[in-house]
Amino acid sequence: MTEPLERDRPVGGADLPGFPAGPRRVTAAAEETERLGETLAAGLVAGDVLVLTGPLGSGKTRFVAGLARGLGVKSRVRSPSFTLLNEYRGAFVLHHLDLYRLEGPEADGLGLEELVDDGALVVEWGEKLPAWVREEALTLVFEVLSENGRAVTASAAGERGGELLAVWELMPAGEAR
Ligand SMILES: Nc1ncnc2c1ncn2[C@@H]1O[C@H](COP(=O)(O)OP(=O)(O)O)[C@@H](O)[C@H]1O
Ligand SMILES: [Mg+2]
Repeated sequence: MTEPLERDRPVGGADLPGFPAGPRRVTAAAEETERLGETLAAGLVAGDVLVLTGPLGSGKTRFVAGLARGLGVKSRVRSPSFTLLNEYRGAFVLHHLDLYRLEGPEADGLGLEELVDDGALVVEWGEKLPAWVREEALTLVFEVLSENGRAVTASAAGERGGELLAVWELMPAGEAR
């Protein structure tokens, strides 16, 4: 067991492989990754920003499908890599952005301010977002471990990000490492 405060310090070397700074959860099937999203959704409110990073096929879109399910969204979640932006209506609006095809600075022209004001925002390839959008965000880094194995590691920015990280840590689904 790690003392809660130790997370803030680089205990044992936060940059050693296998010792990520945030809590890491491992899933063994796509449905488990969806369940992580579904469980986290219970702690989300309008205005929240989730930054998803990680390679193609690492489970980002499946995670968003779970988020949408958790918010009571009825429509199907599809990858917005061509449409750039999808919008799902549940407990509140979930804006689902995918910046894969975008060059960094282009993200500024997307009306991000309105998206954040209007509901929650979840962004695949979210590392391409301008820094101000990530100031209060929870970042989830997706990794491919094996054919059906994925790892998702959370880290936080700002006060709200910290609250969401606490929600993530307390979630029962998946495995904390
Ligand atoms: N543990 C897992 N979590 C998430 N997806 C998984 C897992 N195991 C296998 N998969 C498969 O990997 C693919 C992930 O695709 P997707 O969610 O679209 O990734 P991304 O959006 O990161 O490109 C899907 O085909 C899914 O069925
Ligand atoms: Mg995707």
